[in-house]
Amino acid sequence: MSVDIYELAKRLETQVLEDAKEVFSETVIEYAYNPRNMGEISCADGVGKITGTCGDTVQIQICVEDGRISESRFMTDGCGTSIACGSMLTEMIGDKTIEEALVITSDDLLRSLDGLPEEYVHCSVLAVDTLHAAIADYRTNLEQPDKLMRDKQGDDQE
Ligand code: FES
Repeated sequence: MSVDIYELAKRLETQVLEDAKEVFSETVIEYAYNPRNMGEISCADGVGKITGTCGDTVQIQICVEDGRISESRFMTDGCGTSIACGSMLTEMIGDKTIEEALVITSDDLLRSLDGLPEEYVHCSVLAVDTLHAAIADYRTNLEQPDKLMRDKQGDDQE
């Protein structure tokens, strides 16, 4: 008996997607399967990186121009929900002032994702905490511009 490995993979993927639809909103699935702003920026003005109690790590980088977030990227080694959260959150902060971004809560993120099952709510908290860490790092860099220069030079040499 021969097995078509591609057909098998496609059937598995379809099954996983069908299972996910029973648990997650269409928005979560869309943002998890087609992530926005995933990756890294070489010249970020602020970086937050937090490992949650689940053991997964989220990183968010922001670039700020004239007090507004001009660009942001996220990375995660976590679950699909953490991808959806990083993806949606980086969209939500686009062109926001630092003050506007700081008041975004995990409840705001949950609403934008049309909700999450209770056992995945911590993924949204991790994403928002990581954004706050990136903003804190940005503010530290503002006070210590030579630190930012060293960080950026270090990035260039990597
Ligand atoms: Fe760890 Fe989602 S971020 S389970």
